[in-house]
Amino acid sequence: MSAVTKLSYLGFNVADFSQWNTILFDILGLEVRKDSPAGQTQLRMDSQHHRFTFFESDHNSTAYIGWEVDNIDQFNALYQHLQTMGIGVELASDSEKEARQVLELMKFRGPDNVAMEVCFAPFKDNQPYEPSCTRFGGFVTGDQGLGHILYCHSDMKEALAFYRDALGMRISDYIHWDEARATFLHCNPRHHTLAICNPCFGTGAGELNHFMVQAENIDDVGQAYDRVAELDVPLVLTLGKHTNDKMTSFYMITPSGFAIEYGFGGAEIHNDAEWEVALYNAPKIWGHNLVG
Ligand SMILES: [Fe+2]
Repeated sequence: MSAVTKLSYLGFNVADFSQWNTILFDILGLEVRKDSPAGQTQLRMDSQHHRFTFFESDHNSTAYIGWEVDNIDQFNALYQHLQTMGIGVELASDSEKEARQVLELMKFRGPDNVAMEVCFAPFKDNQPYEPSCTRFGGFVTGDQGLGHILYCHSDMKEALAFYRDALGMRISDYIHWDEARATFLHCNPRHHTLAICNPCFGTGAGELNHFMVQAENIDDVGQAYDRVAELDVPLVLTLGKHTNDKMTSFYMITPSGFAIEYGFGGAEIHNDAEWEVALYNAPKIWGHNLVG
C-alpha cells in the first residue's frame, strides 16, 4: 500500500519573525540558511536543505505540512492512490519544487482544508548543520523525519479515515482525558508522527496544536529548559513524561499561538504485528503541569 513515511518539513506564515528568535535559536539551536529567498527564512536542523520555512506575512498561520516518501515508485503510487480516492491532488510545477528544494512534489488539501504536500528526495546539503547555540548532540531525524505534529479536526472519524486510508498511517494508541480524545499515528519507527484530536484546549478545527522536535541527548533538553527560565520564554506545559510514547519533554508557546514540544527518549515502533494498541486515561506519568 502507498504511504507517506516521514514528516519532512513545515511552513509557517508569520507577522513578525523577530519574535521567534529566542525559541528557534537560543532554545532549539536551529540554523538560518543565509541563502534563504527574499521574504522568507529557511531553517535547518540536520543535513536536509531546510526543515522549516517562515514566510513574512500580515498574519500568523500554518502554510503547509510537508510529508515525504522514500522512493519514486512510492511517490507515483501515492499520486495514483490519491487520485483514485477523489482527492484533488496536483503535481507541483518546477518553480514550486525549486522553492521546496525537492526532486518531486504533489499538493492537496487534507481534513478541514489543511494544505498538505508530499515530496520525494529533499535536497541534502553538503555542508554540515551548524547549531545556533551550544548542543551536546543533534536532533533525532533520519528515518524518523522532522518530528511529530498534533492537529485538531472537526470530524475525528473522517480525519482518521483520511490519514489511514489516503496517507497510509497506522494507529499507535489513544489517549482520552478531560475533553480531549486523541489518536496517535505512525508511519516510521517514531511512536507517532501525527496525533489528531477533537478541537479542545483552545485549538480549533484545522489548527496546529504543536509540533515536536526530539533531541538525541537529554542534556540538550535540560539545558534548554534552564534557558527557557533565564530568557522568560512562556511555557504551556512544564517538563514531564508522556504515558504513551514515554517522551520526556516541555512545551513552549510560540508567537503564533501554537506550541513547540522539545523532548527526549520517545518510544519507537519497529514491528506493527507485535505492537499493542492501548487506550490511556491520561497524557502524563509525571510533570507536564499546565502553566498560567
Ligand atoms: Fe507531542
